[in-house]
Amino acid sequence: MSKADDKMQKLVSLCKRRGFIYPACEIYGGFANAWSFAPYGVELRNNVKRLWWKKFVQEREDIVGIDGPILLHSKLWEASGHTSGFNDSMVDCKKCKHRFRADHVVEDATGKDLEGQNEEMTKVLREEKIPCPNCGECDWTEARSFNMMFKTEMNGIEGPVYLRPETAGAIFVDFKNVVDSMRVKVPFGIAQIGKAFRNEIVAGNFIFRIREFEQMEIEYFIHPKTKWEPLFEEWLDKQEEYALALGADKKNLRRYEHAKEKLSHYSQKTIDIEYKFSFGFKELFGLAHRGDFDLTQHAKASGQKLEYFDTVKNERYVPHVLEPTFGVDRSLLVALDAAYTEEKVNDGVRIVMKFPVSIAPIKIAFFPLLKNKPELVARAKELYQKFNSQYNCEFDDNGNIGKRYRRQDEIGTPFCATVDFESLENQDVTVRDRDTMKQERIAIKDLDDYLAKKL
Ligand code: GAP
Repeated sequence: MSKADDKMQKLVSLCKRRGFIYPACEIYGGFANAWSFAPYGVELRNNVKRLWWKKFVQEREDIVGIDGPILLHSKLWEASGHTSGFNDSMVDCKKCKHRFRADHVVEDATGKDLEGQNEEMTKVLREEKIPCPNCGECDWTEARSFNMMFKTEMNGIEGPVYLRPETAGAIFVDFKNVVDSMRVKVPFGIAQIGKAFRNEIVAGNFIFRIREFEQMEIEYFIHPKTKWEPLFEEWLDKQEEYALALGADKKNLRRYEHAKEKLSHYSQKTIDIEYKFSFGFKELFGLAHRGDFDLTQHAKASGQKLEYFDTVKNERYVPHVLEPTFGVDRSLLVALDAAYTEEKVNDGVRIVMKFPVSIAPIKIAFFPLLKNKPELVARAKELYQKFNSQYNCEFDDNGNIGKRYRRQDEIGTPFCATVDFESLENQDVTVRDRDTMKQERIAIKDLDDYLAKKL
């Protein structure tokens, strides 16, 4: 097993063992590349989303949030180009019947990026005798395009209805409503967090590439004549700041600009923020200049004017759009990957999830030193109940104190407070720091201030 697989295996196993992420439908033998977010995973996920919303919506006067539907009008996807153009190339091995992303097989074997060029990829696969990564044979079908939108049907609607492949569509169709109801002034943004669905040809790498995932997106509307390059740069900085707030190390982040001929059908310029996962540098977030593509397309298809009227300059125009896009699941994977630490301690190896405190699922755990001493249990419970309304807390009296620390280390709880006999006499607790493992006695009357400062 390579080092990368090893780290991923350890993460997957910790996530299951400690209640972050479970494989979906395990009792039925599992369900391909689908995952359930377990109790601590949900807390972490909510914190990741809250951090984003605070940074990009709450703290900004120029951005408002919406929450649109997953099932949207099919005309929207025709207008946006997704019905005809949202394709990946797939290829099958005729021998072992495994299916692959054709561009990935070609690029891994030759270094050539032939995405979107089916004929060329078929030729390279066959002429250069590229072996199947699964069985090693070379007997390929033709590379062909596959539309990644999930189709379903809806009562009362003729024809297929699609599960949205990106949240952006729901934002563009509400552009006019937001302009009319919210007194926004260009430049302004509309933000949304929500599920998106893609029938990926090959999913994998834990929660990196899945078919049901969540996005956090902003459509930022600007005047068509705005000098957008500095703004573009500013957004990239903001995206990196957010990655750092998740715990990412700066040296594990880099920018990757898409070549002109590889841009998505709607984009004039796209830069990805990549993170060095254990399986290599891969896309974490993206930033695209979508121009007026979407508003113009939706205006044409709907027959509605999707313009902005500047009352001061008496000017009417279709704004251009910068689109910073973020994946919730990839953010979570970064938080988990960056937090995972193994440390040598006297009695072996300590595994500790060093989450930044703002996203740690549990902020403080309260323990009675001994389970069978009612007075210790009562005081620890009392403190747990007092602080639980303010911070996400936990009470634990299972096993010995060392085991309880180990469990909280793996959950990533920054502080553990223990009530012992001295605590009853002195009205204090022992607070143990997750990262330094140092312990200090804190008077109960000061605990409020202590936690407020640390958390
Ligand atoms: N609206 C633009 C858009 O959807 P994208 O690069 O296709 O752009 C945006 O997707 C983000 O969504 C990605 O940067 C990634 O974080 C996340 N994402 C995309 N596909 C994903 C998948 N199959 N599984 C998990 N996250 C995904």
